[in-house]
Amino acid sequence: MKPVKVGLLGLGTVGTGVVRIVEGHQEDLQSQVGSPILISKILVKDRAKSRNVAVDASKLTEDPWEIVRDPEIDVIVEVMGGVAHSRDVILEALERGKHVVTANKDLMAMHGPEILAKAREKGCDVLYEASVAGGIPIIRTLIEGFSSDRITKIMGIVNGTTNYILTKMSREGAAYADVLKEAQALGYAESDPTSDVEGLDAARKMTILSTLGFRANVALEDVSAKGISNVTQEDIGYAKRLGYEVKLLGIAERQDDTISVSVQPTMVKTSHPIASVNGVFNAVYVHGEAVGETMFYGPGAGEMPTATSVVADLVAVVKNMKLGVNGRQAQLSYKVMKLKTDEQ
Ligand code: NDP
Ligand code: HSE
Repeated sequence: MKPVKVGLLGLGTVGTGVVRIVEGHQEDLQSQVGSPILISKILVKDRAKSRNVAVDASKLTEDPWEIVRDPEIDVIVEVMGGVAHSRDVILEALERGKHVVTANKDLMAMHGPEILAKAREKGCDVLYEASVAGGIPIIRTLIEGFSSDRITKIMGIVNGTTNYILTKMSREGAAYADVLKEAQALGYAESDPTSDVEGLDAARKMTILSTLGFRANVALEDVSAKGISNVTQEDIGYAKRLGYEVKLLGIAERQDDTISVSVQPTMVKTSHPIASVNGVFNAVYVHGEAVGETMFYGPGAGEMPTATSVVADLVAVVKNMKLGVNGRQAQLSYKVMKLKTDEQ
């Protein structure tokens, strides 16, 4: 049986998990897609660096074009991060007819429409389940699970690093800077954690969720974002005494044809289910006109939860290859809606 060949861009926290799952669950994956899945080349910045997973050194390269231009490679899995470089590499991969799986929310929030348009033109899949809420399959749920409904509100904790920090500050009285360092060591934080703590990472995720949930073109620039860097122990203690937890919440609402999207530290009543979402866990609350209230909960960051979503996308791409239906996911046309911004 001819293997499906994968070019893996990045062997950091998420890339390591992808290698572990593709190798460790190979039999299960094969039974679902009907052929072996082989990671044939891996892009890294520094080939000499020691790795947390055993990989054949001959697979490692520092040249992205060696992978993207390899005619044998069917699917590119991008878990290196960054925006401009990743965009160029992914567009070139799509140009060459390769399918793409990415965990890169920065890229999808900023260049999603361009990338999906290229995928549509080339009949390729671009799947990005891991870009929001790590191990929770929320993107697939919004696209497929709620296809019959009109979503009016999406609200949640979509950044694991900040929820980890707020939880430790609230429960253990830990110092902000110490817990941030822990979150970095655990692989939860972005390479520049400013985007986590200033609410930008959550804003990018809310851009993706509201685009999909409301089937509208939501631009990142229209999402107002405030982070947790100014939240103090005193704020948390004061909220607690009043019966609240402080959480970094993303809130996206639609009223008729107007939508608003924001991210900010918010006092949540301790009786609300979102108040008990702790540590690196995320939760996304979705309200639909027909379904009413729903909530999705799970690990929002980290090696194995994130890799679970990446490899699930890989399985979906390979299944689509077998059925000859790649590119279907990109066939979406979104309504242009009015966006209510801070200035209005
Ligand atoms: P890491 O920093 O741990 O890993 C990045 C990997 O990509 C490293 O192996 C690095 O090489 C390689 N790399 C980075 N830039 C380049 C480049 N220009 N050329 C060649 N190789 C490069 O990142 P993560 O695994 O944490 O995150 C990867 C992506 O997944 C990001 O987009 C992130 O936002 C997203 N994500 C991360 C989650 C998490 O929990 N960590 C959760 C959900 C999404 P080297 O090892 O040699 O330095
Ligand atoms: N830095 C991100 C977080 C990774 O903490 O949620 C998951 O997207």
